[in-house]
Amino acid sequence: MKMKAYQRPEALYPYQSWSLAEEAYDDENNQRSESVFALGNGYIGMRGNFEEGYRGVKGKSVTGNYINGFYDSKPIVYPEGAFGYPSRNQSMLNVTNAQCIGVLVGNDPFHLHSGNVILYKRELNMKRGFLQRQVEWESPSGGHVRLSFKRLVSLPYKHLAAIQVEIESISYTGDIRLNSIMDGKIEEAEVTDDPRLGSGGGEPSLILEQLAHDGDMSLLKQRTRHTGFELLTAISHQLAGAAFETENVTGEEEIGTSFTVKLAPGEKVSLTKYISYHTSRDEAGEELEKRAAETHGLASSLGFERLLAEQEKYLDAFWQRADVEIEGDPALQQGIRFNAFQLLQSVGRDGKTNIGAKGLTGEGYEGHYFWDTEMYMMPFFTYTQPQIARSLMEFRYATLDKARSRAAVMSQKGALYPWRTIDGEENSAYFPAGTAQMHINADVAYAIRQYVQATGDEEFLVSKGAEILFETSRFWYDLGYFNDARDGAFCIDGVTGPDEYTAIVNNNTYTNLMVQSQLRYAAETANLLRRDYPAEYDRIQQAIGLDEAEIDGWQEAASRMFVPYDERLGIYAQDDTFLTKKKWDFDNTPVDKYPLLLHYHPLVIYRHQVLKQADTVMVMFLLSGLFTLEEKIRNYQYYEPLTTHDSSLSPCIHSIVCAEIGDLEGAYAYFDRTVRMDLDDINRNAKDGLHTAAMAGSWMSIVHGFAGMRLTDGSLSFSPVLPAQWDSCSFKVMYQGQLLKVCMGRQETSYTLLSEGSVSFKHRGKVITLSAKETIVIES
Ligand code: BGC
Repeated sequence: MKMKAYQRPEALYPYQSWSLAEEAYDDENNQRSESVFALGNGYIGMRGNFEEGYRGVKGKSVTGNYINGFYDSKPIVYPEGAFGYPSRNQSMLNVTNAQCIGVLVGNDPFHLHSGNVILYKRELNMKRGFLQRQVEWESPSGGHVRLSFKRLVSLPYKHLAAIQVEIESISYTGDIRLNSIMDGKIEEAEVTDDPRLGSGGGEPSLILEQLAHDGDMSLLKQRTRHTGFELLTAISHQLAGAAFETENVTGEEEIGTSFTVKLAPGEKVSLTKYISYHTSRDEAGEELEKRAAETHGLASSLGFERLLAEQEKYLDAFWQRADVEIEGDPALQQGIRFNAFQLLQSVGRDGKTNIGAKGLTGEGYEGHYFWDTEMYMMPFFTYTQPQIARSLMEFRYATLDKARSRAAVMSQKGALYPWRTIDGEENSAYFPAGTAQMHINADVAYAIRQYVQATGDEEFLVSKGAEILFETSRFWYDLGYFNDARDGAFCIDGVTGPDEYTAIVNNNTYTNLMVQSQLRYAAETANLLRRDYPAEYDRIQQAIGLDEAEIDGWQEAASRMFVPYDERLGIYAQDDTFLTKKKWDFDNTPVDKYPLLLHYHPLVIYRHQVLKQADTVMVMFLLSGLFTLEEKIRNYQYYEPLTTHDSSLSPCIHSIVCAEIGDLEGAYAYFDRTVRMDLDDINRNAKDGLHTAAMAGSWMSIVHGFAGMRLTDGSLSFSPVLPAQWDSCSFKVMYQGQLLKVCMGRQETSYTLLSEGSVSFKHRGKVITLSAKETIVIES
């Protein structure tokens, strides 16, 4: 368990600062590579599947194409149900596979399990936003060719992806055939006992409605079985370099075009395939064909090279703010860039979609959105892409009505956000580690506060955020109570905190403190609105029937909040009974019994002092100002040895707290584990999709951990410490519309204001004000 003993595993992929590459192909790692080489644009997600398909060992590949927020909703069958259990489960659908391009060299189909693979190389370029695979191949009949596959999922054009295949003959003379199709028959997700994967199985969710060739486009239309959403996938092509014959092909559930060309040694042919996805979630069903035609018209007029150029331009702007540079450690440099890149690829930006626990890279957690968004992804977006952060919070506003209904089902007033969801409905079928995690309400409130304070976007607070704060505060006030048995303190019973190895407890410290902070913020916001935006205040008051006495109640509950504290140990108890339980016997738990959740019944776990992930330790970071340094040290020293980190959300928080309490070695070890979680496949399940929260957590470990950045009561502060292993580390944050660059060196820290205005913040308690383009260098 001890992190200091953490040894970075041998590199699975070579350390390269702006790219990720593999130079050999093998079945064993194929599924993992499909996840790490995934492409996406926050709407479309494509796993790194091979265009020619996979013909290796069964169970080593998952063909995956996803659309954010596009789901079916199957009934959940509970052998023993109870009132208020969600009756349906939404799951993000694996949709039509338009990646397929079969290549025939003469009569030999190209694939990596036949003929002779002379060279294989695949590379994800994070600066330019495309994936390239180069193969030199000799077919079983001796046809020697060079193939290059380049693909992108367009960041500026939400509905569009493109693949370009180039084939060059080295010594081959004869026909090359390219079969470019879309396949509407979806491979069923594996059915397993791993709760992290989801239910799987059952009838196919997509029902074929239409296959058609329409001018230059081929269309495949489907409808979801239960939700009735329509999906139109379309492809079109451009071919260059040789005379060719085409033939349209239509199968049972597939459609496309076959191109035949003649090649002689030294000759080349290139096929570009444009792919679009349009759904009735975005536009009326009858509009889909028109929209697809527009997308393909745009794609062919721009062409692949222009699309690539626009991709790079988009990414230039992204990296301008999001890049973190670590000098002295190429592995971590690669890791942190990969993480930022994957976050951008997975995040929904339209206010209707969000970011799933596995992004758009796999079906783990069924594409559901969790508290991961508010507590892990939001800081990265708030400080580097505030527009995206705002749209993530707009998603919560758009689903507020559903949260109201959920609170009513739970016999409470106000609104309760779902633990896991796609469209705002609660999807958690296992309530002890699901609906009971009501802290999500306080997490949403915390994220709103951080976002508003960091960006100064008061308009969001007034138009949307306030209503969320009021409704969720109402929920807390109704759920908790002034408990005579606790001298009238405000108690919250029957909830689960972030640590999912301890369930349904009274007075979880994390929850109570976060609720206290939320209730105060809600009351402050009410005052702000009353004073500065009276018309908006009236609007909300009328809309939700808010009574002034409720606001007084929130303040009262906050000031009398019960927080369990153990005098003997001098620490906060995780909850009312945690410290009275037996400690988990770590010494006699073999390594292969982790994660515990796959080897022990929940009740066995729940009756012990053992944590899946940071809980009290996490609130010490989030509400840092409430704790003294000594308290942080004592609490950390108590909880850390009891923590398994069976959740990938855990190490980054430990890294941050370690940095704060002066344990730089621990901070580094935890950071190392978090930043290369998927590249080193630490949890051995990258094959099911990437760990998005851990990725965002690695950014937090740098900015909140090593740089010690905190935003408390509207004031930004830094307290940098540089790990001994690094020469320097720099990053940028957007604060109140200004772009600030922070560079931590061995001897000094420099702060540069890159924008035109001015900015004030604290460095180790000392106030610093910078004006446009000014730099200040401070000795560490
Ligand atoms: C963690 C949760 C998290 C979920 C999705 C679980 O393993 O315990 O905190 O929200 O994964 O990432």
